[in-house]
Amino acid sequence: MSSGTMKESHSQWSSRMGFMLAAAGSAVGLGNIWKFPYMAGEMGGSAFVLTYLICMFLIGLPILVMEWLIGRRGQKNPIHTMEDVAKAEGRSPEWRWVGIIGVLGSFLILSFYSVIGGWATDYIVLAGKGAFLHANAHDTEQIFNSFLGNVNHLLTWHTVFMAATAFIVALGVGSGLERACKVMMPGLGVLLLGLVAYAYWVSGPAFGEAFRFLFTPNWSALSSTAILAALGHAFFSLSLGMGIMMAYGSYLGKEVNLLSTARTVVILDVLVATLSGMAIFPLVFANGLQPGSGPGLIFVTLPIAFGSMTGGTILGVLFFIFLTFAALTSSISLLEPTVELLEEKTRLGRKSATFLSSLLIWVLGIACLLSFNAWADVKLFDKNIFDLLDYVTSKLLLPVTGLGTIIFGAWMMKQRVIQQELNLNNFWFAIWEGLTKLVIPVAVVAILIYGFWPEK
Ligand code: PHE
Repeated sequence: MSSGTMKESHSQWSSRMGFMLAAAGSAVGLGNIWKFPYMAGEMGGSAFVLTYLICMFLIGLPILVMEWLIGRRGQKNPIHTMEDVAKAEGRSPEWRWVGIIGVLGSFLILSFYSVIGGWATDYIVLAGKGAFLHANAHDTEQIFNSFLGNVNHLLTWHTVFMAATAFIVALGVGSGLERACKVMMPGLGVLLLGLVAYAYWVSGPAFGEAFRFLFTPNWSALSSTAILAALGHAFFSLSLGMGIMMAYGSYLGKEVNLLSTARTVVILDVLVATLSGMAIFPLVFANGLQPGSGPGLIFVTLPIAFGSMTGGTILGVLFFIFLTFAALTSSISLLEPTVELLEEKTRLGRKSATFLSSLLIWVLGIACLLSFNAWADVKLFDKNIFDLLDYVTSKLLLPVTGLGTIIFGAWMMKQRVIQQELNLNNFWFAIWEGLTKLVIPVAVVAILIYGFWPEK
């Protein structure tokens, strides 16, 4: 951890802005625009949404801060960071398992993430061809279903998306991507706002219905499944529990204020998710679609809007381009941990390590995409492969590693150091300690037990 080695192997972010962009780039992605709305729809709306919001601020934000803080002290990849920081604190190096399970999580997530990234990419082309012109809900459902049934087609786009991810990671053209994102991300934000306004304009009373569905508390709809899903999604959405944010933290300069930076990232992430919800659900209700129809939700609803508005073809193309970029800035962060691990543990160079990791993930991705068609009936624990991977990662691996991180930070590290790092006065630090030592661990354990308890 000497500053000498730090300088050799680790450049630092040129600015707080660059860091924010990379962290927000990893956080904001398909999770916000594709996954959040369909989960909210499946879980009955507001009870899930409000629990998710509470989880984001009360659990996600402190864990995000903790990951950055540990990463900044460790200055290495997540596994070695955990090992080094543990040793420096006089603890067992076995804490590295937090990092190891994290890498496994990122590997599994990328396999299905790439399939959905492929859908987004293909929808650029579909929108450009005018496939959605004057389409009603029935048409867009049909387009989506025939698209899901076409294995070769899905495979092509999964391959394209995975190859693009690998290409960026192998060549380290991340800075170019970052620059592109400086344009794309605000573009996505503006377009989402525009879509919400459009939804308000065309869907009449369905807009209010959507708002109530998402935000008016209806706690009777709250199930243990929904609470577990909300917690898992807070982790997924902030890219937590995989060591990714820890790795980013290792590039972070001392002067950056962790708490305020984390607050900005969480707010941004929540805004993109809720705006997507408000763009999509008015269309769902106005067109008589099912809110709980699953992973196809945005691919069925938004095309209706693009098909009926003036300039919809161009806007549709732009939207799916932005979405693909948002997905790419997340997928490169998902590939990085596996590549880094292979690079260090084997004799492979960066390019070969990237190639091998991507190949393995790509193969697993094929199993995921088949679960939408040929293998729809291949089930384990009553779930197809796609659902199972999503379930195991979001609901188990991420919360468990997140728990490990927070317990490590709150109970294993010297708290005086943390107080200095966070620059908090005694009053606020007491609140921080109460949260990280007790509230968060107890809440996460309780939600895990409650969520996995058989037969309620
Ligand atoms: N947070 C990303 C999203 O919301 C997904 C992601 C998960 C990225 C985990 C990196 C790590 O889309």
